[in-house]
Amino acid sequence: MRNITGTPVEGQDFFGRSEEAAQFLDLLHENANILLTAPRRVGKTSFVLEICRRWEEEGHKATLLDIEDCADELAFAERLLSSLEQSGVGRGLLDTIAKGLRRIRKALGRVKLGAAGVNADLGDDSQETVASVIENLLAKVERGEQKLLIAIDELPEMLLHLAQAPDGQARVSLFLHFLRRLRQSYRDKVRWIFLGSIGLDHFVEERGLAKTINDLTVETLGVFPREEAEAFLEKLAEGYGMHWVDDADSYLIEKLGWPLPHHLQLVFHTVRSAMRSTDQAEIDRERVDQAFEELLQPQRLGTFDTWRARLDEELGAEDAALAKRLLGILCRDPKGADRDSLLQGVAQAYPHTDPGELKDRVREALHLLVRDGYLIPAEGRHAFRSFLLREYWRRREGA
Ligand SMILES: Nc1ncnc2c1ncn2[C@@H]1O[C@H](COP(=O)(O)OP(=O)(O)OP(=O)(O)O)[C@@H](O)[C@H]1O
Ligand SMILES: [Mg+2]
Repeated sequence: MRNITGTPVEGQDFFGRSEEAAQFLDLLHENANILLTAPRRVGKTSFVLEICRRWEEEGHKATLLDIEDCADELAFAERLLSSLEQSGVGRGLLDTIAKGLRRIRKALGRVKLGAAGVNADLGDDSQETVASVIENLLAKVERGEQKLLIAIDELPEMLLHLAQAPDGQARVSLFLHFLRRLRQSYRDKVRWIFLGSIGLDHFVEERGLAKTINDLTVETLGVFPREEAEAFLEKLAEGYGMHWVDDADSYLIEKLGWPLPHHLQLVFHTVRSAMRSTDQAEIDRERVDQAFEELLQPQRLGTFDTWRARLDEELGAEDAALAKRLLGILCRDPKGADRDSLLQGVAQAYPHTDPGELKDRVREALHLLVRDGYLIPAEGRHAFRSFLLREYWRRREGA
């Protein structure tokens, strides 16, 4: 097992999650389509890659596509078709895919979709639309022998871009309705998983589109349970001829507070780099302490900056500013703070906001921060979930 810190892990590098994977496969076999919402960096993409691998092992086909950078419905269709082409779906389908791709690629950058969005004509003589190209293909899959799993990563990110285009809101609605129609029309052979770092549920609720996804089975993914985290650290060390002494592995997990697989990998990577120049194989508590210190050095803080940047992307300027204010207060104490002190703490910055309204906004911000893994609520208080993240925040704030 290699020590990978950042990109999704696959195959030999993927650790654990056996039970969750089996449960997901059961759901898929019961014809469920899944919405996977889980905090950032928990390992969603890696997990779904593993689901795809197991699904294929059973003799079906699967494809995972990241659509974060797809600017519009045409780009989505192009990404979907080309990823299906690469995934090697049945030979009978390749022809249909190739024809569809030619049409879509010809239209890319040339056809303005406008308010018709996914139903826009492709502008050739075929009378085809973006939607019909995809539908024709899935209709064929439905008539065939093989099951197909389509996993879509970062859909809300694409929808956020789309919402900003001319007629954006209408197009988002059309697109979500279109995806729902696909799920309902081709339900025997085509299965769907939607995953991403921004909650699709929150996105659709805000826009009154919740019913477009209410057929999805909502699942989540947690960090590694303690024993799994320990076994993971052991396996990682083993891969480099190293081992933990003096319970330094449990110590590391305690120090993290929240064993996000990504953070386990990061700390181990830092330990490993420090030990590279020595011929030692034993990792003790002191090494762990040093690795935390190293990770939190000013020049390394950038590693965690995505946790700040993503608030801006997801929440928009005003709500992001409030969320950061709350985190700025909470990072000062490992035990966090109760709602009243948080309200008091932020009130100064909002002298013209009605107290009732501010209370609602704080409640909503805390809810999102809990859902995204920043905070944990307990006994009327909120606190940073990860001690590492709290310490990062404290140092960034200069608190
Ligand atoms: N099952 C696993 N085994 C080993 N490492 C893992 C596992 N899951 C996640 N990781 C670690 O976490 C990192 C992030 O994983 P991944 O990209 O799958 O998470 P994600 O939840 O999709 O993240 P994002 O929210 O940024 O999309 C990986 O680079 C790896 O270091
Ligand atoms: Mg991901």
